[in-house]
Amino acid sequence: MKKGKFIVLEGPDRCGKSTQAKMLVNYLLEQGKDVLLTREPGGTPTAERIRQIVLEPGAEVSPMTELLLYEASRAQHTEEKILPALKAGKTVLCERYTMSTCAYQGYGRGIDLKIIDTLNRIATVGLKPDITLVFLMSDKYFTERGEYLFSDRLEQEDLAFRQKMRRGYLDMIERTPNAYLVDADKNIMDIQAHVRELLAKHQI
Ligand code: TMP
Repeated sequence: MKKGKFIVLEGPDRCGKSTQAKMLVNYLLEQGKDVLLTREPGGTPTAERIRQIVLEPGAEVSPMTELLLYEASRAQHTEEKILPALKAGKTVLCERYTMSTCAYQGYGRGIDLKIIDTLNRIATVGLKPDITLVFLMSDKYFTERGEYLFSDRLEQEDLAFRQKMRRGYLDMIERTPNAYLVDADKNIMDIQAHVRELLAKHQI
C-alpha cells in the first residue's frame, strides 16, 4: 500500500525544474516530511547506466530503442526505489516520469501514443503521480538559458521538435488528472510560490 505522496516535475530541457525541485525539497523538509529526490532516466545504479547509454552524444540510438531504454530505466527505478519509498511513507519528488516519454518519444519523435501508454503502464505497474507540475517557458528563454550549457544528445534537437513537445505537454495537461501548467518564464521565487500553492491544494 502506497502511503507517501508522489510529485512529478516535468517540462522541456532547461525549464528550471531542477532548481525548483531543490527548493521544494527544502520546503518539504521544513514541514517535517521525509523526502526523496530522484530523477529519470536514472535514479538507481542500473537505471543510471541506461541513462548514460541513451544520452551519450553521437550514439546510434533508434527511436524505438530510445523508447524502450527510457521504459527499462523507469521499470527498474519504480520497482527498486520509488514504490518502496512511497510504501515507507516518504514524499517522492521525481524529475521527469511518464509524461516525458509521451512528450519526447510520442509528440516529438512521432511514436504512437497508444504504444507509449501501454509501455508506461507496464513500467510503472500502474503507479500515477499525485501531482504533476509541468514547467513551460517560451523559446526565447530556452536559447538564453542554454547558451553556455553542455548539450546532451536530446538537448541538441531543433526548434520544431521542441515546439511539438510543447504542444504535447499542453495537450497532456488538459487530459491528465492533477497535472498543472507552471509558467517557467517568471522569476524563480514566483515560480516556487506557485508550486507551493498547487501542492497545498492537494494537501501536500
Ligand atoms: P534531464 O536532462 O532532464 O535529466 O533529461 C534527460 C533527457 O532525456 C531530456 O532531454 C529528456 C529526455 N527524456 C526522454 O526523451 N524521454 C523520457 O522518457 C525521459 C524520462 C527523458
